[in-house]
Amino acid sequence: MKKIGVGVLGCGVISNSTYLPAISKMEKANLVAVCDMVPERAQSAAAKFGVPKVYTDLDKFLADPEIELVVNLTHIQAHFETNLAALQAGKHVYSEKTMTVTVEEATTLIEEAKKRGLKLGAAAATMLSPVNIKVKSLIQSGAIGRVCYVTGRHSHFGAADFEPWSTDPTWFFKPGAGPILDMGVYGLHSYTGILGPVKRVACMSGISVPKRRVRSGPVAGKVIDVEIDDNSQILMDFGNNTFGFLDATYCAKAAKGPRMTFYGDEGVITVNDYGDPHPISLFRDDRDRFGYQGWTEIDLPRGATWGLPMGVEHLIECILDPSKPIITSAEHARHVIELMNKCYVAAREGRTIELETTF
Ligand SMILES: NC(=O)c1ccc[n+]([C@@H]2O[C@H](COP(=O)([O-])OP(=O)(O)OC[C@H]3O[C@@H](n4cnc5c(N)ncnc54)[C@H](O)[C@@H]3O)[C@@H](O)[C@H]2O)c1
Repeated sequence: MKKIGVGVLGCGVISNSTYLPAISKMEKANLVAVCDMVPERAQSAAAKFGVPKVYTDLDKFLADPEIELVVNLTHIQAHFETNLAALQAGKHVYSEKTMTVTVEEATTLIEEAKKRGLKLGAAAATMLSPVNIKVKSLIQSGAIGRVCYVTGRHSHFGAADFEPWSTDPTWFFKPGAGPILDMGVYGLHSYTGILGPVKRVACMSGISVPKRRVRSGPVAGKVIDVEIDDNSQILMDFGNNTFGFLDATYCAKAAKGPRMTFYGDEGVITVNDYGDPHPISLFRDDRDRFGYQGWTEIDLPRGATWGLPMGVEHLIECILDPSKPIITSAEHARHVIELMNKCYVAAREGRTIELETTF
């Protein structure tokens, strides 16, 4: 069986906890190398997951001919530069979110990949989730009629609050990161993946908790000055009077209730987190036809689950079979990047902003 040579760039929290355990077991991935600018991180990840080559220098890593696909797990602010360098070195790229910080950077990557005939895939890979695939097919089959609006939440209390945290989470609270790019991105990929591109956005946004104390890890006790908005409430127009609302904050200590709810003129779909025995519930108003209305739990196939590394597995399938469309497309990521940036503009200027990109 043909396997794709994979090099993992960045051996921090998500690399060790989620990607390396999965990639090292992927049937069609040959995990060739890891790279981190902090030598101990690169060495310990390689030892833990049996990776043959260890790099601390990006240029040397990218010059390795065995690496066909770079999985970029660096912090958000490093993504554009490192994704571009990988494409220029002739590698396919799968980037953790957000692929870039600006639309212009995203377009540069898209054009570079196209010019070189390379595959470029980007998180958030929420549209590979069996739950979202099911919700989309229910909505497209008319299960709730015409969608009037969607509400959802994608918040937590921020990375400084997590336990255990094995690196320094300061970057999450600095320009180029923040809860819209870190958390809202999941909800925005889901909303747009299910309902299509957003036409206009409005937003209330600011800093509500300006100092954060790191609770664990090597910099436990460090106090971080928050320099990005940590509390953003986003309102969207999908066209045709279909609206959406999402909270993207580092201000939610906990939350209960559905992660997303789609309200249609014939019914409602609620989406709970994975782990819930019934992630999808459907309310149908069938009084006129059957004299009945009520909730039904929608079952998913046994074992249907979702995880971040599915984006890598999917891109490998697309490299092996170039006719396969990339669900985690860079164009979708660019649209969400524009949407996220325009949230801040809308908040600062106190107005509704039109979007220009689509996918
Ligand atoms: N932490 C999470 O819970 C989480 C969850 C989902 C997605 N993500 C995404 O995963 C990515 C990484 O997040 P993280 O929390 O693991 O960050 P992290 O800070 O723990 O790890 C990033 C690693 O990249 C390395 N790095 C940065 N620039 C480099 C370069 N030029 N060359 C070599 N190494 C470099 C750093 O030394 C660090 O070890 C981000 O895009 C984030 O949005 C994180």
